[in-house]
Amino acid sequence: MVTCRRIAAVGPYKDLRRASGDVQRGGEVVEVAGVLFPGFVDCHTHAVFGAPRLDDHERRALGEDYKTVAARGGGILQSVRDVRARSESDLAALMQTRVRALLAHGSTTIEVKSGYGLDAANELKQLRAIRQTAAAERAALVPTFLGAHEVPPEFRDHRPDYVRLVCDEMIPAVAREHLAAACDVFCEPGVFDVAETRTILTAAQRHGLALKLHADELEGSGGAELAVALGALSADHLGAVSDAGIRALAASDTVAVLLPATMLFLGKRTQAPARRLVEAGAAIALASDFNPGSSPTVGLPLVMALGVSQLGLRYTEVVSAVTVNAAAALGLAADRGQIAPGFRADLVSWGVSDWREVAYWMGEQLVTAVWTGGSACPLPGGPVSLGLHVKA
Ligand code: NIG
Ligand code: FE
Repeated sequence: MVTCRRIAAVGPYKDLRRASGDVQRGGEVVEVAGVLFPGFVDCHTHAVFGAPRLDDHERRALGEDYKTVAARGGGILQSVRDVRARSESDLAALMQTRVRALLAHGSTTIEVKSGYGLDAANELKQLRAIRQTAAAERAALVPTFLGAHEVPPEFRDHRPDYVRLVCDEMIPAVAREHLAAACDVFCEPGVFDVAETRTILTAAQRHGLALKLHADELEGSGGAELAVALGALSADHLGAVSDAGIRALAASDTVAVLLPATMLFLGKRTQAPARRLVEAGAAIALASDFNPGSSPTVGLPLVMALGVSQLGLRYTEVVSAVTVNAAAALGLAADRGQIAPGFRADLVSWGVSDWREVAYWMGEQLVTAVWTGGSACPLPGGPVSLGLHVKA
């Protein structure tokens, strides 16, 4: 039973009827065939971008790795050139289609990072595009500032100046306009080292932003330990996390966000050590990492299936990983991610007979209805045009 955007009570229908005047007074009764889950929380995406990066994909197939592709003109900087050339409203229009696709796959709360602007004007433009999209769409969007996603070409030879720009100009501007809930950094050898990351995240913390971290994605560098030391909401990727990083995560409230679709799409033969993290006692979330370079997927159910088959997680574990734990990775664990009294009435019904099938039918579209804040959302009637992105 749902009242005023929140769940009022949960239980057998006859008890709810007895407990509630509403139903007797003609409140709407919706019967759902199949399985009902809380709306999924996709706690790590880069959903504001222009064109896909098809050449990167093929270059990797021909043997170039992520860093070589980037060094040859592809990679994040290709999306940066693209985003810089687009208007805020163009980015928002592209994003609306993509957010509808994410919602149609069951994600009712979606974290979205900037990080393809890499200067004050373009980072703010991305964050404003997220705000514009959030106002128009039914999914809840949670914006994260990722100005330290890469060092832009104009700062290649004086990177400390870029770190200063992020700390002294971008973060204060983002905080002033309330454009982001959190700040993230790509902490990776060759991108931002641990000292630079600490400087940036400490500045963000001073401005009231929560912290997240791309940590130990491709090579371990102590990112997970840093995330824990700074009290970050999450440490994400963790493909190369150390034993000390696992122990630190397990002893903390920092959620380990794993992104198995990314490792698969990058052609990696390894995955983050999910079982060791679980067994050590860390909280695991799964996310799509939806982005044009390393994870062009909008489907958390696909990621859940990979969680089982690639990460060795159990069905129960992949469900917590996209609900309760994913909400915690955004600091929203008391507000959403559960079908329980007081929680936001974000609900998704799935056309399956057994709840485990949601993490089984790989890549299938199984969602039959979505409610956010207690009201039904229109779903796309046919295929979504993710690919219609006029060139910038
Ligand atoms: O999470 N690791 C850094 N960022 C993204 C990749 C973004 C891109 O390639 O455009 C990630 O995989
Ligand atoms: Fe990412």
